[in-house]
Amino acid sequence: MKIFLSKNRLIKYINSEKNLGFVPTMGTIHSGHISLINKSISQCDKTIVTLFINKPQFNHKTDFKKYPRNFKKDKSILKRLKVDYLYLPQNKEIYPKGPNKKIKINKFKNELCGKTRPGHFKAVVDVVDKFIKIIKPKRIYFGEKDMQQLKIVEDFIKRHHPFIKVISCKTIREKNGIAYSSRNLLLSKKEKKIASKVYYLLRKNKKKLILNRLNLKKIKENIIRTGVSKIDYIQIFDINKIIKPFKRKKVYKVFIAYYLRSTRLIDNI
Ligand code: PAJ
Repeated sequence: MKIFLSKNRLIKYINSEKNLGFVPTMGTIHSGHISLINKSISQCDKTIVTLFINKPQFNHKTDFKKYPRNFKKDKSILKRLKVDYLYLPQNKEIYPKGPNKKIKINKFKNELCGKTRPGHFKAVVDVVDKFIKIIKPKRIYFGEKDMQQLKIVEDFIKRHHPFIKVISCKTIREKNGIAYSSRNLLLSKKEKKIASKVYYLLRKNKKKLILNRLNLKKIKENIIRTGVSKIDYIQIFDINKIIKPFKRKKVYKVFIAYYLRSTRLIDNI
């Protein structure tokens, strides 16, 4: 695995790659990331992973500060997976002139997480766009765990980088049902048990919620009873009717964001 700290060296090295797969991450590599990486390795000649904790996409300084960092361990996992290239940029290399405030993204940004995280998706799209311009991949991999991010980024890439294929990858879960997330490291044993109960409650009641046989108020009450500190939202969307062109087939997902103490978790089931 070749490691790059500067984009000039990286560009020289990869500019002749014709079938490059790209997996953007913020590190603390877990099984979710690994599934994206393995998919890229199986579909592309070479795979590049970026590891960059993108400050502008955090809404609070404390959230950015406490975001887990495990660069050393990450490097050894990526090496073991036989990733070809790892790019670890410095903030000033990505943002020499600061974030791009003019970037226009789909209005789905205003739903779900967008209501409590102003500017978050714009900052995600900005950094992905900057990486794409440096790396020029053929395919780029995103997880369904962050469905809203996936849909917004996919829409942007289709419009601005039409030759890049966006590959969506299924959510990978721990045995107890919790979706792998770097933030899970911030949870106590007790909180993990609560997160597991939330997952099973939603899974068990998904059909009733979609058919309107159970209202959202009732499920929220049940979720609070498991010990959740606060619910940001629970909402149902047909993911085929979020971004045009719509598809006929209905695929409903229940979206949730909630807090366990100060840790905010998101999922869709
Ligand atoms: P990060 O949270 O590190 O996630 C990197 C990628 O892994 C994202 O596409 C995310 O959806 C995917 N992922 C995370 N957990 C997963 C799981 N349990 N199963 C499947 N895929 C999972 O998302 C980001 O970083 C950033 O916003 C980024 C796109 C890198 C831009 O800064």
